[in-house]
Amino acid sequence: MPSTTILVCTTCRHADDPADGPRAGARLFDRVKALAEERGCDVTVAGVECLSVCKRPCTVGLSAAGKWTYVYGDFPVETGAATILDAAVLYGEAGDGLIPWRQRPDALKKGVVARIPPLVFPFATAHKEAAE
Ligand code: FES
Repeated sequence: MPSTTILVCTTCRHADDPADGPRAGARLFDRVKALAEERGCDVTVAGVECLSVCKRPCTVGLSAAGKWTYVYGDFPVETGAATILDAAVLYGEAGDGLIPWRQRPDALKKGVVARIPPLVFPFATAHKEAAE
């Protein structure tokens, strides 16, 4: 089973971010990383600069080789880390990355921005072979 990567936008900012402190996204990244270590989660937590969902901070993604990639917005700094890690576990258990709707935390149902097919997409391959 491919390892799950949690992408956390470290440049997302909330309106109440302090002018001289780290942005909301950077704080969420720190919390996700710390909680993943605390829980012993088999995930990679990667900070990235902007997932182009800047109007819905904080933004995260879930990705793994051969799986659908998901992008979600609207995560709060204070409570988002636990939800993100719960989602990452469910994502890791889903062979194709598609978490059954009923199992999805509400934050995922409301916060979904995009789902992106795996880079090697079997339907695309089949389509290409049919055209040859
Ligand atoms: S700054 Fe976070 S998505 Fe753009």
